[in-house]
Amino acid sequence: MSGVTIKSQREIELMRNAGRLLAEVHNRLGEEIAPGMSTYDLDRLGEELIRKTDSIPSFLGYEGYPASVCVSINDEVVHGIPRKDRIIRDGDIVSLDIGLIHQGYNSDAARTHAVGNVSREALDLINVTRESFFEGIKFAKAGNHLHDISNAIGYYCIERGYGVVRDLVGHGIGQEMHESPQIPNYPQKRKGILLVPGMTLAIEPMINIGRGDVTFSKTDGWTVTTEDGSLSAHYENTILITEGEPEILSL
Ligand code: MF3
Ligand code: CO
Repeated sequence: MSGVTIKSQREIELMRNAGRLLAEVHNRLGEEIAPGMSTYDLDRLGEELIRKTDSIPSFLGYEGYPASVCVSINDEVVHGIPRKDRIIRDGDIVSLDIGLIHQGYNSDAARTHAVGNVSREALDLINVTRESFFEGIKFAKAGNHLHDISNAIGYYCIERGYGVVRDLVGHGIGQEMHESPQIPNYPQKRKGILLVPGMTLAIEPMINIGRGDVTFSKTDGWTVTTEDGSLSAHYENTILITEGEPEILSL
């Protein structure tokens, strides 16, 4: 595959800065989520936090997306559009996906939060989704192939009975939010590209309790939901490939 950018030492430093700032935004926003808030409230707060770090919200206006944070509740997988009349309730699981650009470089990360009293099965889903990311990045090092990551994430979730979303993937990231390569979360037949130090990747498993099939909203043009109505979780970080262990930039 062509078009994969290898970052210079200077660019890596800028990617580190963007990642650290995004981690702070996520931590702050995560602490604010509470029943009774609207998804719009979270977006307002999220945009404010991003701008305070001297960064630009990368999602705002991206292919016409109207907000700075994607807020996806329960059976919503990703790309939920914040609304004043969408109220967060006790027992919801809420995925926050946030991207920012700092000094020309992108960072992208997502977390799923449990709000109040959440079912055991929902908590398990959130944990397995996060764990699958860490399983995947065990293979994220120079000399391995891209799909070693995909296979590790995919098998981890499938073996535990979860559905892996196949219609959406992770991606390279840098001066653009979406760069090559695409990074599937599902086991692959091919090996994928060779991993090289200086690659920066956004790895983002999207995992469902039920089947992995998803529906793309025809009403708002964005919201992706599980086809079977089951709960979905999302976990994403921007990472750096090195000779040894990967660096997780947005944590
Ligand atoms: N964070 C998403 C991704 O990883 C992008 C969000 S789509 C947007 O690809 F329109 F909200 F930007
Ligand atoms: Co992403």
